[in-house]
Amino acid sequence: MSPFHLTRTLPEDATDAALRTDVLHGLTCTPKTLPPKWFYDARGSDLFEEITRLPEYYPTRAEAEILRERSGEIAAASRARTLVELGSGSSEKTRHLLDELTELKAYVPVDVSASALAQAGEAIAAEHPGLDVHGLIADFTTSFALPATPGPRLVAFLGGTLGNLLPAERARFLTSVRAMLDPGDALLLGTDLVKEEAVLVAAYDDAQGVTAEFNKNVLLVVNRELDANFDPEDFAHVALWNREEEWIEMRLRALRPVGVKIPALDLAVDFEAGEELRTEVSAKFREEGLRAELAAAGLDTSHWWTDSAGRFALSLSVAR
Ligand code: SAH
Ligand code: AVI
Repeated sequence: MSPFHLTRTLPEDATDAALRTDVLHGLTCTPKTLPPKWFYDARGSDLFEEITRLPEYYPTRAEAEILRERSGEIAAASRARTLVELGSGSSEKTRHLLDELTELKAYVPVDVSASALAQAGEAIAAEHPGLDVHGLIADFTTSFALPATPGPRLVAFLGGTLGNLLPAERARFLTSVRAMLDPGDALLLGTDLVKEEAVLVAAYDDAQGVTAEFNKNVLLVVNRELDANFDPEDFAHVALWNREEEWIEMRLRALRPVGVKIPALDLAVDFEAGEELRTEVSAKFREEGLRAELAAAGLDTSHWWTDSAGRFALSLSVAR
């Protein structure tokens, strides 16, 4: 069996401090917001996996179709000996790549979800004897050290997670990805594309209510970690298409006046009836705009593939 290491790049109390800062800032500003990375405790990661199997949630199936067809080309173009995957989650679709990257020596999945990383990392190490699998529990929006593994390096960022960053965060993030690469190394990026509003909204407001549970899970994370007393029943799940920004917004709308106590922050927060807390944006992209954002970060797009229905794009960009 291959070696599997799991490293926490930030001590748990630093993660705790980051949550405190985000909750204190997010729940005292107007409008109220929370960053989406706090969805992903063990239950949130499981709920996300359930979302990927919903009939309305097309991105995972669309990206898997592209990866099934194009992994050979990606392997030939990158000749990667190290694959770093940011926000790897279950690493399910990555298996197509791992099967084709014949020169690969090391796989470095990076995620804030320790449970998802441990499960995926152990399984992949067992499936790929001889591959060094080194999981990193880290926040990809902060700087963290990668293990010393051989180049060329391919960084994969799949699933459309780039869209969960706000535009300024996105620009900083792409610059930090470029800094992880040597000239000639590559970024493999999965991005959801602008399409009809009804298709987009259904993907974020499914009939079974799994996305609603996922959205409300952030309240349970704040309850558990900061002793707060949110009642998820006080809030309704909202998914709407912001036409100007070209992103989906997930919000939690207070169904009645709600008072919440967060003892760990010595904070009381009031919601008026109908007041909304924004929990996620999920930006949808157009080819020209994304190529320009990548180029501004020093990444030149050499390949652009979409699924057969043109819903989702996978692009390969080379570090200048
Ligand atoms: N790449 C997988 C999972 C996407 S879900 C797929 O395509 O299906 C988004 C993943 O990113 C989750 O596993 C979540 O825990 C992780 N994530 C979200 N924000 C993060 C952050 N700031 N740093 C590291 N991981 C993050
Ligand atoms: C992880 N990320 C790309 C998902 C998305 O589609 O924005 C998270 C998600 N939110 C609701 N459903 C899925």
